Amino acid sequence: EKGGYDHFMLKEIYEQPEAILDTFRGRLLSNEAVIKLAGVEDNMKKFLAAERIIVVACGTSWHAGLVSEYIFEDLARIPVEVEYASEFRYRNPVITEKDIVIAISQSGETADTLAAIKLAKSKGAFVFGVCNVVGSSIARETDAGAYTHAGPEIGVASTKAFTTQITVLTLIALRLARAKGAISSSEFRHHLIELETIPSKVKEALESDGYVQTIADIYKDAKNFLYLGRGYNFPVALEGALKLKEISYIHAEGYPAAEMKHGPIALIDEHMPVVVIATKKGHYEKVVSNIQEIKSRKGKIIGIVTKGDKSVKELADHVIEVPETIESLTPLLTTIPLQLLSYHIAVMLDKNVDQPRNLAKSVTVE
Ligand code: F6R
Repeated sequence: EKGGYDHFMLKEIYEQPEAILDTFRGRLLSNEAVIKLAGVEDNMKKFLAAERIIVVACGTSWHAGLVSEYIFEDLARIPVEVEYASEFRYRNPVITEKDIVIAISQSGETADTLAAIKLAKSKGAFVFGVCNVVGSSIARETDAGAYTHAGPEIGVASTKAFTTQITVLTLIALRLARAKGAISSSEFRHHLIELETIPSKVKEALESDGYVQTIADIYKDAKNFLYLGRGYNFPVALEGALKLKEISYIHAEGYPAAEMKHGPIALIDEHMPVVVIATKKGHYEKVVSNIQEIKSRKGKIIGIVTKGDKSVKELADHVIEVPETIESLTPLLTTIPLQLLSYHIAVMLDKNVDQPRNLAKSVTVE
């Protein structure tokens, strides 16, 4: 059932090219320059009238929500707020009929997310679900939605659910961007063509596996890790840190790279591995200078870079390459080596990768 892999997590990491293709199927028609999502089409009026999108989710799904904030704002020019469902539900949040709430959940059973949906509905908001499990409570409770179609995710640490959530959210953002006229038809087409290349680029990113194992072996005994990224890759840094915490029980924190100087830089010494996502475009030059700051304090740098990168290679102790793509799609690639790194460290430390202590696959209690 693990298809020859030692763990479900590894199997699910390797399933991502196919899972992302399944997410596209029947929805991304790049030849015709069309995105078809019934849940969006049927409610286009509401989407176009929305003054704001509020995303509610927990854990890894919340990280996918954070990535979508950049995508929706950048492409579709719709203001977005991303909320932990557990906080949102107990505030007295300002929600109106003009808001669209997007609830993201792999299992579709997360108690806090479900409660946040009920609250939003009671205030008159339109609630759209992005779930993986078909017919789940959240899928039923929402007004409309789009499934991720990632297939069953068994490993407690979420992997393919995350990348397919980002894929669906990107499709929605692009569809809305086009409907609003926020991007030109040529830009739209360019995004579709790039998106279509992602499964094969994920496959290529998976080829870093051997080198990631070498890095895992060097740093597996570290007591702390920092993960840094900016822009679209800031949420990926958070997700990388969460993966490491969950399955290897090593303390890790994700930060926006520029926040370093406001505190966390004090932690850096020769014992601190720092994983820095430094892909080309976006804030590349700025991230390179963040890397210089870490290096001058003797931190060990593991850079996640665009294929062919030179500047980071000169500074970092290790670099892991991912293929080039447009900035908004980089999270789908930069996530891959971070998943592999946490996996290999956990295996080397002899931890229970698929069923880490204290964690459950769906959190049906608050
Ligand atoms: C992380 C992880 C959890 C879940 C969170 C939300 O690897 O698995 O953080 O992402 O419990 O679960 P869903 O998406 O099922 O609502």
